[in-house]
Amino acid sequence: MENLTHDIVIVGAGITGLRAAIAAVEFNDHIDVAVVSKVYPIRSNSVCAQGGTAAVIKKEDSYDLHAWDTVKGSDFLADQDIVDFFVKNAPREIITLEHWGCPWSRTPEGKIDQRPFGGHSFPRACLAADMTGLVEMHTLYGRAVLEENITFYNEWFVTSLIIEQNITKGLTVIDMTRGEMYAIHSKAIIMATGGYERIYEFTTFSHTATGDGMAIAYRSGLPLKDMEFVQFHPTALIPSGVLITEGARGEGGYLINVEGDRFMKKYAQEKMELAPRDIIARAETIEIQQKRGLEGPYGPYIALDLRHLGEEKINERLPLIRDVAIKLGGIDPVEEPIPIKPAAHYSMGGIHANIKTETPASGLYAAGECACLNLHGANRLGTNSTSDCLVFGHIAGEEAAKYALSKYLREFPKGMIDMEETRIFNEILGNEGDEQVSSIRDEMRRIMNEKVWIFRNEYELRSALKEVKELKTRFKNIKVEDKSRTFNTSLMEALQLDFTLDLAEITIVSAISRTESRGAHARLEYPKRDDKNWLKHSMVYNTKNGPEIKYIPVTITKWSPVTRTY
Ligand code: FUM
Repeated sequence: MENLTHDIVIVGAGITGLRAAIAAVEFNDHIDVAVVSKVYPIRSNSVCAQGGTAAVIKKEDSYDLHAWDTVKGSDFLADQDIVDFFVKNAPREIITLEHWGCPWSRTPEGKIDQRPFGGHSFPRACLAADMTGLVEMHTLYGRAVLEENITFYNEWFVTSLIIEQNITKGLTVIDMTRGEMYAIHSKAIIMATGGYERIYEFTTFSHTATGDGMAIAYRSGLPLKDMEFVQFHPTALIPSGVLITEGARGEGGYLINVEGDRFMKKYAQEKMELAPRDIIARAETIEIQQKRGLEGPYGPYIALDLRHLGEEKINERLPLIRDVAIKLGGIDPVEEPIPIKPAAHYSMGGIHANIKTETPASGLYAAGECACLNLHGANRLGTNSTSDCLVFGHIAGEEAAKYALSKYLREFPKGMIDMEETRIFNEILGNEGDEQVSSIRDEMRRIMNEKVWIFRNEYELRSALKEVKELKTRFKNIKVEDKSRTFNTSLMEALQLDFTLDLAEITIVSAISRTESRGAHARLEYPKRDDKNWLKHSMVYNTKNGPEIKYIPVTITKWSPVTRTY
């Protein structure tokens, strides 16, 4: 196996990874950075972000208000010191992107425009129509490729981290075009691999959102935190699950049941369609369960009505979702309401990391959706994610650069890399079992959809756990039909399935343990938030007996928990 060397390796080339790469080389122009991504950067899931990026850029808004909205939105599980840091650093990122040429939507006076979003008390979502992630990605990628010190390894698939005695030494990676494995020797690594929503059947996320970075970190001994908190976005297009941005409601769209009623008035009298996502996703589910959904060929649904906005506004502010609704749903939102229902959209949990994005392993950093910095708590507010990627991608790049400048490359542990090559090519690709990867994957997604969805109960969670464990056993008996080395997507799918099975199990174990309802985690037998026993983060460790949970406290600086009404 060939070895490559870089000061810093960034795994993932979405908003977080690209922002980190630029920050590292800006911090020191001798730093040599590699960005490794299993897809071409501008195919990263970040391009799917639609509605906006939250930041305080108007004098009528304030850091305190953004922080309060985020803490209340998190159902008081966010650490308030990190929220404070985040809101104060988000505006700088908006201006930086502006300077790098990001084509933000404008007010008539030519200023950066902002729109309302769920749970925010001020219209603070900076936007580029409904393609915010796409334009941010193009801006960042265009900036990153100008840097000679950033090398891109596109369509390279990372399989493991090399960490010994808690010190990060490098990673193993497959060049997918040739099927060759490499070890990359590095002083620091930044995990920026995004979410794992593809453990579910119905999700807004790309097929690539398989949580590889989280699972790899977990297998290397790092704890994953708050994994019971999965966000369900209220408006996913039926049947594909493609996102219909909350920006559609920010522009004034209504949610309607079969009676033509704007039912959100029953659940969030003041904020209505602009309540946080956890509340709206539950409200839609209740409407459907109580037979007030509309009936369609794919089952009951809720209608998102934009007709009153008019064609001109829809074309100007929501051109992508009009296109998507027409092409993938056969519905023109100018003429008809869009059929939607909730879909898995975001993971509040991830690799345990602190305000500097440091993980417990020296030299290993994590930022963006794959990380859990305790920023979003039990429920993230819409548009706080792309800001999180920018703010903490920047921090991760700088922190990793500082670390790399003060360290030397460490020897790889003997035998570890050969063992990884044997695991991938002999034990997984060479396996001659009789199980199909696609059947196990579809089963896992069905189980997660049916039993680990918006409303949860112990009986179903335990049954899901049993079934996922059985799937893990079946995985040992797979056969990857395509045995070739060249761009073997079947092998990649097997590796991704292996990762998602771990993450599904961890999500269920965490969900069983938390016997309260908070944010996106709604337990039917425990319908109330329980601050006395559960104002704490869960940390899941990989042990020989399977996932084991410990807890750490929440940092409260300013706001004690209160009843959360909207
Ligand atoms: O609805 C949306 O545009 C999604 C935004 C987000 O998840 O932050």
